[in-house]
Amino acid sequence: MAVGRLEGKVAVITGGASGIGKACALRFAEEGAEIVISDLGSERMESAAAEIRSNTNGQVKWVEANVCFEAQIANLMQSAIDDFGHIDCVVAAAGVSGAHYLSDENAEGLSGNLVDQPLEDWNQVLQINLTGVMLTNKHAARHMIAKGIPGSIVNIASSAARVALSGAVDYCVSKAGVSMLTHAFAMEMLENNIRVNAIGPGFIETPMTQGLQDDDDGKEMMLSMTPMGRLGTPLEMANTALYLACAESSYTTGATLYPNGGMYIS
Ligand SMILES: NC(=O)c1ccc[n+]([C@@H]2O[C@H](COP(=O)([O-])OP(=O)(O)OC[C@H]3O[C@@H](n4cnc5c(N)ncnc54)[C@H](O)[C@@H]3O)[C@@H](O)[C@H]2O)c1
Repeated sequence: MAVGRLEGKVAVITGGASGIGKACALRFAEEGAEIVISDLGSERMESAAAEIRSNTNGQVKWVEANVCFEAQIANLMQSAIDDFGHIDCVVAAAGVSGAHYLSDENAEGLSGNLVDQPLEDWNQVLQINLTGVMLTNKHAARHMIAKGIPGSIVNIASSAARVALSGAVDYCVSKAGVSMLTHAFAMEMLENNIRVNAIGPGFIETPMTQGLQDDDDGKEMMLSMTPMGRLGTPLEMANTALYLACAESSYTTGATLYPNGGMYIS
């Protein structure tokens, strides 16, 4: 029988109850990893864990953690250590998008652009998408260093890190931050044999883009920006994350891959 590409590995996945994070959890479990899903909402996490258990033989646990709170992320990583003894891979997929791509005005006549954005909305996007990824990286790496084992961290950025999108300044800035966090943290972690890479998806079929998928103008906007003429699937993102998580990418660190249907070719 073929040995899975993550056999004997333990993977912690934030945002693991939905979309790209859930697809990563399922795909990694198929490749032999033991999984700790983290997200918001116990029912959502239990439902995702049950789906993965029913499709694989792997062990799947879940721990609720809001990525904005350092103590909750520290507790998540400690729980993974307590349950499985080590952490080998991390996918930091928790994120939000408050984007207003279609530039409609709301009932108060305000646009979705930066000039009209309340500071608390900006702070929330940066807190979840950038600080949350930083906290996830920091606390996972602490345990990897303490155990002295090689590790692989995969951060979910976005093609919006490189493609400027009107109505989404906060999101673009947060994802550009994730990309540079990945580069710089990878340099710090070289001596510890921990690789840090990122993925910059284009438009993907997940709940995050459901509103745009359901809207004719939204769908047209996404497809017009995507030379391949279709949205990406969560499985395509999970396969990219799997490559970065496993030993096949053993000479790659500090990189951001862009599975985006040709939206941005670096
Ligand atoms: N779907 C796309 O087109 C697309 C494109 C590029 C990048 N991304 C990125 O991929 C990642 C996953 O997004 P998705 O498309 O799967 O969306 P999704 O909404 O299906 O999943 C995001 C998950 O993050 C969780 N989350 C949000 N805030 C959190 C918090 N404070 N603490 C813990 N968990 C929190 C949500 O509960 C949700 O389960 C995000 O970082 C997103 O920015 C998505």
